[in-house]
Amino acid sequence: MTELEDKLLAVLAEAQELLSKAADANTVEELRVKYLSRKGVLPALMSELGKVPAEQKPQVGKTLNQVKTGINAAFAEAQERLEAKADAQNAIDVTLPGRCRCHGHQHPITQVMEEAVAIFRRMGFVVADGPDLEDVWHNFDALNAPQDHPSRAVTDTFYFDLEHHDFLAPDTMILRTQTSPVQIRAMQAHPAPVRIVCPGRCYRRDTPDATHGMSFHQIEGLYVDKKVSLADLKGTLSYYAKEMFGSSVKIRFRPHFFPFTEPSVEWDASCMICGGKGCKVCKGSGWIEISGAGMVNPKVLQNVGWDPNEVSGYAFGMGIERIAMIRYAINDLRLLYENDLRFLHQF
Ligand code: DAH
Repeated sequence: MTELEDKLLAVLAEAQELLSKAADANTVEELRVKYLSRKGVLPALMSELGKVPAEQKPQVGKTLNQVKTGINAAFAEAQERLEAKADAQNAIDVTLPGRCRCHGHQHPITQVMEEAVAIFRRMGFVVADGPDLEDVWHNFDALNAPQDHPSRAVTDTFYFDLEHHDFLAPDTMILRTQTSPVQIRAMQAHPAPVRIVCPGRCYRRDTPDATHGMSFHQIEGLYVDKKVSLADLKGTLSYYAKEMFGSSVKIRFRPHFFPFTEPSVEWDASCMICGGKGCKVCKGSGWIEISGAGMVNPKVLQNVGWDPNEVSGYAFGMGIERIAMIRYAINDLRLLYENDLRFLHQF
């Protein structure tokens, strides 16, 4: 065996050894440059074939070919090994537990609002809508609010552009203080009978505390038809209270005053904590105040051009935050708007 053949076989052995240990594609590439590139080990040895005496050339040439084939095979093997390893790393392990997707859920206010809407829809109400940015006529005048009504004060209501508008002018724009203007819009848009609920946001210049916010939600209800009575109102609110708070809940009316209803009431539900016996939540009275309601004031019907001798109606307006606080025993309304997930996850 010639000296060149010895060198060639040593190179083959060394390349096979290094390639079998190569752990990544970069190492294989470095070895390819080292052995096979133009200035690599193998081409250098091949160029020495010229110096080999003629009678030895066939023998050395054969060895050279063997070494070339061997090195190529070692490269192919290393490549295959690394690809198989990468495949195994990317493979799906079907025994692993599935990845849990984080589902959000509705805010408690939205949940209560949608549930209230669903209850009224079961009684034939349809959902009506109105703008948050409202004019004074729809929010106050048409609802029979006297010009000196305290809720009209600029310290109580968010007015727009008071530099150019009188706060009493019917077309002055405000953020609606109640959902009641949607009653007016519904009666302007449709002939009687009208049976609507309107869930939505309201705004007042209140200093936020445990039971007040600058922005809150109400659901308004209105039913106007021939011969609608206070008994119809009581039946409707009674069904609502049972669906919302529990089947044993009773309701009662107390006289009250609102400019847009006559007579007006406030209605209470029997306390769902103590069943009416009296506890801390109902302050011993057995009753929990829910909202205002009443028979639509004939003046309101006239304001939209309807004849109070032909039709009558009832209306009600409830604070959604209040319902949520009662239902979930929340004692501070601000918790609902802090977006603390530890709080929101509970609902
Ligand atoms: N708009 C009233 C408020 O914000 C609530 C209300 C009371 C609405 C009686 C009504 C109603 O429709 O009949 O305090």
